[in-house]
Amino acid sequence: GTGKLIRFEAEAEGEGEGKTEDADNKDEAPPENPEQTRDLEPIHQKPGHRHEHSHKSSLHPRRQQRDFPKAHTTLPPHVLKKRDELLPIRKSLPIWPHVKSIRAALRENNVLVLTGETGSGKSTQVPQFLLSEPWCTKTIAITQPRRVAAISLARRVAEEMGSLFGNQSPSAKVGYSVRFDNATGPGTRIKFLTEGMLLQEMLRDPEMSQYSAVVVDEVHERSVNVDLILGFLRNLVAGVDKGRKRKTPLKVVVMSATADVQALVQFFGEGLQTSARDVEVETGDSGAARTKSGKPSIDSPESKPDQSTNSKSSNQPTQGHSQVSTCFVEGRQYPVKTVYLPSPTQDWVETSLKIIFQIHYKEPLPGDILVFLTGQDTIEGLEKLINEYAQGMDADVPKLLALPLFAALPQHAQQRIFTPTPPRTRKVILATNIAETSVTVPGVRYVIDCGKSKIKQFRNRLGLESLLVKPISKSAAIQRKGRAGREAAGQCYRLYTEEGFNTMEERTTPEILRCDLSHAILTMKARGADDVLNFPFLDRPPREALEKALLQLLHLSALEETGAISEQGLKMAKLPLTPTLGRVLVEAARPERDCLLDVVDIISALSVENIFLNLVTEERKEEAEAARRELYRREGDHMTLLVTVQRYEEERSDRKAWCEKHFVSHRAMQNVMNVKKQLLQQCSQLKLLTSTDKADSSPSEAKTQAILACILRGFISNTARLMPDGSYKTLMGNQTVSIHPSSVLFGRKTEAIVFSEFVFTGKAWARGVSAVQLDWVSEVIEAIM
Ligand code: CDP
Repeated sequence: GTGKLIRFEAEAEGEGEGKTEDADNKDEAPPENPEQTRDLEPIHQKPGHRHEHSHKSSLHPRRQQRDFPKAHTTLPPHVLKKRDELLPIRKSLPIWPHVKSIRAALRENNVLVLTGETGSGKSTQVPQFLLSEPWCTKTIAITQPRRVAAISLARRVAEEMGSLFGNQSPSAKVGYSVRFDNATGPGTRIKFLTEGMLLQEMLRDPEMSQYSAVVVDEVHERSVNVDLILGFLRNLVAGVDKGRKRKTPLKVVVMSATADVQALVQFFGEGLQTSARDVEVETGDSGAARTKSGKPSIDSPESKPDQSTNSKSSNQPTQGHSQVSTCFVEGRQYPVKTVYLPSPTQDWVETSLKIIFQIHYKEPLPGDILVFLTGQDTIEGLEKLINEYAQGMDADVPKLLALPLFAALPQHAQQRIFTPTPPRTRKVILATNIAETSVTVPGVRYVIDCGKSKIKQFRNRLGLESLLVKPISKSAAIQRKGRAGREAAGQCYRLYTEEGFNTMEERTTPEILRCDLSHAILTMKARGADDVLNFPFLDRPPREALEKALLQLLHLSALEETGAISEQGLKMAKLPLTPTLGRVLVEAARPERDCLLDVVDIISALSVENIFLNLVTEERKEEAEAARRELYRREGDHMTLLVTVQRYEEERSDRKAWCEKHFVSHRAMQNVMNVKKQLLQQCSQLKLLTSTDKADSSPSEAKTQAILACILRGFISNTARLMPDGSYKTLMGNQTVSIHPSSVLFGRKTEAIVFSEFVFTGKAWARGVSAVQLDWVSEVIEAIM
């Protein structure tokens, strides 16, 4: 599975041999010079400013209170060597001079809003800066919108700290947690998580008791999850979360690559003001965060050790800790020349190809190229073309190395972009907007920007969410261009006209204003934020979108008629699945369905992209069709996936060969197995799984019906009936959809279908399709309406 793979890779890189760590590993904190060592002392205590660490000055105040594993032997020399090599690079990052002010800001206040250009060192350095702080006795969480960023940052920070990584050793200090892959251990002090994983943790541990600080990174991306996290954190630091009080205050750092500070400062400021007023009313509460300092913190010497950090708040400057600090890290940007197309094009692949070779022949090395495309299909298309054309290059021309980068790419392939460019080679990274701010690719001097990206869009009329290719915003275009000027002067080729740029929206609409909110609301309800209309949203979604999502959750029986979360809903919220898939799973656990294990197999397969290899030539396609025929089921894709997983598992001798024979991706199947393992664990934690559950090797007719009934129960909005003219129309929305060519039911006619995915590419497609009877669909619809 993925977890294993990552560990194998780490070992292959030589990180895996050491078992324990240097007991005197000084560099838990940023490298210590005498000045910084002094900085560790809790010197900022003021009268009336009760700190959780009241002992006298000590060089390592943290050592005594932590029960993180202690290490006894030394680290492998190459780990320490790498750490020492990286130190000067860290010191040259624009954020480095701000270390003192960042620390001071968080001693003074509980919330810091930090802005700085991509690559200035926020994600890698800030957690390390905070680790040595006296208040930091527990773990630091740092969230990322994407898996690849969480994993690669954890790896990088471990290297910088001279620590082992993930769960290689009980004392490894840096780890990560992403969906279906948790690489943390008892010694984890810095934990990179995807936003979704932090939300899941917030449901299990509402006070976030394992953390001293939460760093919310990439806030400018404004994913729904980040908006939820910000709302929950605001309630938590403000102490307005019902009955949730921490013994020590949680420190919150909000980081963004764009300067939208004001809204964030105000957002947290208002929350803190509420809590500050509470303190005046409550008597006898002496928690550090709630104690009056009696002095405006803006006047205290530590709060502004340099001019870049300020304490700001609205109108109540007399409360200690009740303010929001801000810090601006000035970027280091070399000039980037912009080249526009004279006239618009739709053919980004062809145009990019020309520009890539133009650059390659004309411009000297080093200087890698970063191309922004819309998704896997265009990326793979261009990759193929580059490789073809590169074969025809003269031997004296440097090599071209095309490296794709998109979210669904397997882990090991994503990691390749971080390896140094081989000699006499130019890297061409073909990326989605993943490389815009969240992943820093070193060595880039040329950017090619197609000006589009795929974004999630909820289509109200259809009641369906889909990915659409849309023009990016000006702010995104500027970010993309900036990637060319990180290390030297660069060039940015925009595959649109200057006028095209001028007509772009200023900034990208936050996802919460354009997506299906049912998952967000289920999470809010599960966290006790019952009044969703009055939740502290950074941007409030329209009331009708909220109501629509509430209705959807009601249809899924995740909510009671009263709007309170149901027992089922709570289970759904705690599963790392969308509400619909969660509902399918919960349904399967009901005694009258009794098909949980089969449904877990199907959901695991649905959670992994492309189990069946995508073949290019017609010949190979036909060959694959023949080889897979024994796996195909007339009931449709879901049963086909089930049979594929089952046959794969039954194969005991050589699964790899089995995969090759059936044109199935072995790596994808390994991932399916890993997801399955974790889902089963979660099912037993939630008591969905009983000990009597048993997998059948070949589902009976009755079992098949039960499985399809579960899928129908979750995906009731994704159902369509066959019309006399041969088209399909959705039952809840009357919209035409077609069965996607990738489906085993493509070209077949059946009275009704249920589908687990909806894609819109010029036309509405149903993907992951099963054939069902129309009266089954009607029954469910009647029951829920
Ligand atoms: O968060 P921010 O974009 O401000 O910067 P960062 O992610 O902390 O990256 C700082 C520097 O660390 C980058 O310029 C890269 O050179 C380096 N880095 C790296 O080499 N490998 C990573 N996985 C992440 C960062």
